[in-house]
Amino acid sequence: MFDIASVHRNESGALRVCCTTPVNVTSVARIRVRRAAEWFTCDVVRRGKDSLETLFRKTGADAIVVADEPLRVVLRANPKQPVWFHPGMALPRIAAMRGGQRDRLVRVARIGRGDVVLDATFGLAVDSLVLAAAVGDTGRVLACDSSWLLVRLFQYAQRYEGHLYPSLQPLLARIEAHCGDHVAVLQQMSDNAVDVVYFDPMFRHPLHNPSSDLESVRGLANPAPLAHDAWREALRVARRAVVLKERPDSGEFERFHLHPDKPRAKFAYGVAWKETAYERT
Ligand SMILES: C[S@@+](CC[C@H](N)C(=O)[O-])C[C@H]1O[C@@H](n2cnc3c(N)ncnc32)[C@H](O)[C@@H]1O
Repeated sequence: MFDIASVHRNESGALRVCCTTPVNVTSVARIRVRRAAEWFTCDVVRRGKDSLETLFRKTGADAIVVADEPLRVVLRANPKQPVWFHPGMALPRIAAMRGGQRDRLVRVARIGRGDVVLDATFGLAVDSLVLAAAVGDTGRVLACDSSWLLVRLFQYAQRYEGHLYPSLQPLLARIEAHCGDHVAVLQQMSDNAVDVVYFDPMFRHPLHNPSSDLESVRGLANPAPLAHDAWREALRVARRAVVLKERPDSGEFERFHLHPDKPRAKFAYGVAWKETAYERT
């Protein structure tokens, strides 16, 4: 482990990232921190008895990866809400599906076994896991997010933390996540390449729940509204449908000529069917 004076920038772009151990450093944590440093192409900073606040001051980092299990990313801008991979709401949603209920997203988008879905706003992978359960072992979930750190964190969990979620291991393996802006990703894909494209951009007006998982990723997430270019490309790439999740009163459904499935709910889904005659039996 090295003491370093400064922290370089990695593929996360503007964010300066370093990694360190938890305060109670064990031999496993030492191995994990070296692995994390390689994974995030960043330097290791000696923890000693330093608080993360002190480390932020000493290093000038914007984000510190703490080599715990699960791995945590702590942002200088929001140190009280670390980001780590965990299935969150995917667990009860998948349990309900396994119990015979149909998930609202899956039902609205008519996702079925064998489908290939592009989750174009991957975030914390919650919806992707649900989609992976819906498409089954003959389907696939492709995913992208413009946050390199979020995608890398998920890929780390796929590779090293699957044992923490044994019931989800086959679903984790079914997701292929890439880092990139979805407009660029879609532009590289051929016509009708997937069955459904799904967008869940950051809400224009956040929900009033500052402790929610999504609030913790705000510092990493791309806050831009969905672009018309993205919508147009998605309609070309999707064989069947393009789905948008938003707050019903956001104005976004009107902007894309969609009808929210629940106009009075906290959030809603709108679907553009590629061929309006399409009906899944
Ligand atoms: C609300 S979160 C998605 C949450 C996700 N559905 C889940 O279940 O965890 C929105 C995500 O979309 C990403 N995003 C926004 N604009 C994007 C773009 N143009 N290209 C790729 N990702 C984008 C953000 O970085 C953020 O992680």
